[in-house]
Amino acid sequence: MAGTAAQPCGNRSLYVLTMLLLGILGAAAIVCAAEMLLENTRMLAVSAYRLPPPDGQTQKNRRIVQISDLHHKRFGMHQYRLIAEVQKLSPDYIVITGDLVSRDMTDFAETADLLSALRKIAPIVMSLGNHELDLPEAVFRDLMALLRRMDVVVLDDAWKEIDGMRFAGLTLTPRHYKNGDSYRGLSDCTEADIRHILGEAKTGTILLAHNPLFFAAYAEWGAAVVLSGHVHGGVIRLPLAGGLLSPERKFFPKYDKGFFRAANGAMMVVSGGLGKLRLWNPPELCVMDFAADGQEIPHFPRNLYKNHRRIFRHSTGNAKDMADA
Ligand SMILES: [Fe+2]
Repeated sequence: MAGTAAQPCGNRSLYVLTMLLLGILGAAAIVCAAEMLLENTRMLAVSAYRLPPPDGQTQKNRRIVQISDLHHKRFGMHQYRLIAEVQKLSPDYIVITGDLVSRDMTDFAETADLLSALRKIAPIVMSLGNHELDLPEAVFRDLMALLRRMDVVVLDDAWKEIDGMRFAGLTLTPRHYKNGDSYRGLSDCTEADIRHILGEAKTGTILLAHNPLFFAAYAEWGAAVVLSGHVHGGVIRLPLAGGLLSPERKFFPKYDKGFFRAANGAMMVVSGGLGKLRLWNPPELCVMDFAADGQEIPHFPRNLYKNHRRIFRHSTGNAKDMADA
């Protein structure tokens, strides 16, 4: 009798537990959906790094703003939100580390609006990403013509020194990104490959390389600072674990986003990028401040963001901490 009397009570407990679990899962799904909506429509994070100067470029403080992986993303009409943020940061240089457009784009009107505004702020230097490489030939030519009209310095396996800062841009090949329909058997990139393409590294080279996967080779080649993107921060970022997925469909990629340092002292900043769908990983502008010898970099202007707490986030790194990392 006691056994049969306990049955409804056990069922009720199971029912309550199931409902509780469903409630928690439902609430988590709503939170994730709300965060995703907000991140992908309203947010623009600014991550700021204070770095020691690349050797031999120590005459004055410099600020680089990095734009990466914009793809189809639109920050307001004619990209006005993105332009306004870059303007507020008053950079000395704007670098674009590839995937400014997506491989299926043919109309670059918005790209032209963005570049024509950015060029008034600072000189623009750009390296190419896999999406530029994948454009049909005629469309690629159109894009290059636009970049030339907008005075963008395109470093397609090339060098450029601008006002004392030495930039190199490495393009790589489509086979470094995809092998037909597969992500297996991708080409490697070694120090010797880079030397063959760009020649010997020069003192204080800032290497713009869309793909951060080959950081060891970039460092061995002699890059002082590498600016990279491509991984989109791992698309979804998990607490402690970081970015979930790489474009090569690998889980938890090593170089997902943020600051990295090689054993020989080479530094790399990987931008989380601006475009494509993402979660717990808002679109990101990166700002690199290089202090001149004996000079202090003014603190990053936190109050710039006081009215935009939800929209803008930033982290600062101390130049000494970075040097000691
Ligand atoms: Fe990419």
